[in-house]
Amino acid sequence: MVQLQTTQLSLPPGMIHLGVGQPSPGLLPLGLIRKAAEHRLNQPDSSLLAYGAEQGDGYFRAALAQFLSDQYGEAVNPEHLFVTAGASQGLDLICTVFAKTGDTIFVEEPSYFLALRIFADHHLNIVSIPTDAEGLDVDALEAKLAIHSPVLVYTIPTYHNPGSFTMPQSRRERLVQLSRRHNFIIVADEVYHLLSYAEPPPRPLACYAGDGHVLSLGSFSKILAPGLRLGWVQGTPDLLQRLIRSGLVDSGGGLNPFTSGVVKSAIELGLLAENIQYLRSVYRQRLAVLQTAIRQELPGSTTFLEAKGGFFLWLKLPEGADTGILLKEARQENVAFLPGTLFSSRAGLNNYMRLSFALYEEDDLKTGAQVLGRVLKQHLT
Ligand SMILES: Cc1ncc(COP(=O)(O)O)c(C=O)c1O
Repeated sequence: MVQLQTTQLSLPPGMIHLGVGQPSPGLLPLGLIRKAAEHRLNQPDSSLLAYGAEQGDGYFRAALAQFLSDQYGEAVNPEHLFVTAGASQGLDLICTVFAKTGDTIFVEEPSYFLALRIFADHHLNIVSIPTDAEGLDVDALEAKLAIHSPVLVYTIPTYHNPGSFTMPQSRRERLVQLSRRHNFIIVADEVYHLLSYAEPPPRPLACYAGDGHVLSLGSFSKILAPGLRLGWVQGTPDLLQRLIRSGLVDSGGGLNPFTSGVVKSAIELGLLAENIQYLRSVYRQRLAVLQTAIRQELPGSTTFLEAKGGFFLWLKLPEGADTGILLKEARQENVAFLPGTLFSSRAGLNNYMRLSFALYEEDDLKTGAQVLGRVLKQHLT
């Protein structure tokens, strides 16, 4: 019988793909969504089945604003939220509305590889800015501002994908100052902000959105379930108006009113907050297991920054190592990862690889690290 595909991810049987940054099936909260959906669908109000308000259901935005205020420890105004069908869709719409073909945008090197795909779809001119253990190098960015006038600066400030680094408060503030002075919009992709496994991160860039130079992307993909296709953009009403007035929203109405209604119930029943606590405990443990296994199994010449949150470890191999070739060898042993070049906008980062601890339980993480260690030792000696 023909096997029809349901999920985006489809791995050969037995493959441990340490590159995949998605929750394992057991972490997809079917019971939680059933409860939230029952709660919402038992109400007589059918509005979630109508075309939605352009900015997103006001009651959902109110619940989300309250939730984010609690999480961030700073008040979030529902009028500063625009509902999206996930961070990817939000980013795509921001590109549609705020940039045109050939415009320059700054991205971090490395950056989220699928954001690079979205920028390519919009034919934008990408200028990459180096990063270090504290994220975006703001000095290097300032130097580039003497040459370029970006319309957008795309950054993942907290628990970076793939770098796992977090930008300290002082850099965030300098970046915001530069955005005012040079009149660019910071697109802060903050989808991992709430997934912290150690001390809390600095204030999200969302908290700097008030003066009109920051658009912060949030998503339920990492804290609830990616199949919901639900997220938000936080920014000033002036900036959000431009998204709201887009042809896409005008034609189809607000994004995902049905899911918004269900997730509103999940927030109000306390299920979202509980789920985040649960995810933190599971991922914290998986991260510890993978970090320990890597230290034990991989050659000492492989280094990485300890992750404090998010989904990823970003491994640096010695200069000259080619993770593209290594991947072919690892695949023969049923293990895979994502090679660094994917995350480069200038065909660099050949000697890096991204691993994730989100998709597998502890035994598979250990096995994956053992096999990877064996392949690397053969290749690097
Ligand atoms: C940095 C970053 N942004 C956006 C996304 C995609 O988010 P969404 O599922 O909300 O479109 C991901 C998922 O891997 C991500 O890592």
